[in-house]
Amino acid sequence: MDSQTGTLYGIGVGPGDPDLIPLKAVKALQRTRRVFTAASSKNDYSLAVRIAAPHLPEGAVIRQLPFPMTKDRKSKEAAWDANAAIIAATLTAGEDACFLTLGDPLTYSTYGYVLRALKKGFPDLPVITIPGITSYQASAAALNTPLVEGDESLLVMAGTQGTERIRCLNGHAENVVILKAYRNVGAICQALDEAHLLAASTGVVRCGMPDQEVVADIRELASRAPNYWTLIIAKRERLHGPEEH
Ligand SMILES: C[S@@+](CC[C@H](N)C(=O)[O-])C[C@H]1O[C@@H](n2cnc3c(N)ncnc32)[C@H](O)[C@@H]1O
Repeated sequence: MDSQTGTLYGIGVGPGDPDLIPLKAVKALQRTRRVFTAASSKNDYSLAVRIAAPHLPEGAVIRQLPFPMTKDRKSKEAAWDANAAIIAATLTAGEDACFLTLGDPLTYSTYGYVLRALKKGFPDLPVITIPGITSYQASAAALNTPLVEGDESLLVMAGTQGTERIRCLNGHAENVVILKAYRNVGAICQALDEAHLLAASTGVVRCGMPDQEVVADIRELASRAPNYWTLIIAKRERLHGPEEH
């Protein structure tokens, strides 16, 4: 590729606490004037911009790209392709660019779709993805609770996908992280109960933000107004202490 071509940095700014942005991301931001992020009414992406803003050079240009919240696959793909083309135009003009996401950019993130569209339409453009701290890593830290120990396993899933998978877990995964746990919480609790995962479950709402909340009894979440920034960490009830390895 032409030496004048810019590089895209896919950056995860962490889940909310501005101190949880990786140093590598800060260094990339400090030398990048073109910043892209996803615009969406549901997810507060302006938070990602607020976290990144102190690290941007003077005169940096921030552009929010529209990603429609629709189930229509064709409209979504058209938006991914169109946004990839906008980013590609910046890179081919010789400028580096950042794409900001909350948490980790490769974990349930719009960046994943942009990346796929870029690889498909502009396979020669250089892309460097900088990992971020996920919401569930930060939540486990906030709870001072290990995510996995010894030979245990961890399932990361979206609460929006239904509860059948949780029901099938009995005996298969010792730890489950449920992101997007702002809908169907009653059904999620029921399924966790059936899989012997309810008693040792904790909800974390707005982790790392000034109004962070830890919900010890996740059944409470079912009776509240849904908060998009909600996740659940569920652990198998232990009859004995943890195995040491
Ligand atoms: C589209 S996913 C983004 C995940 C993000 N890329 C990550 O690495 O954690 C959005 C879901 O992540 C979870 N989430 C993200 N940030 C959070 C936070 N600060 N506190 C609690 N949950 C959060 C919520 O479950 C939310 O519905």
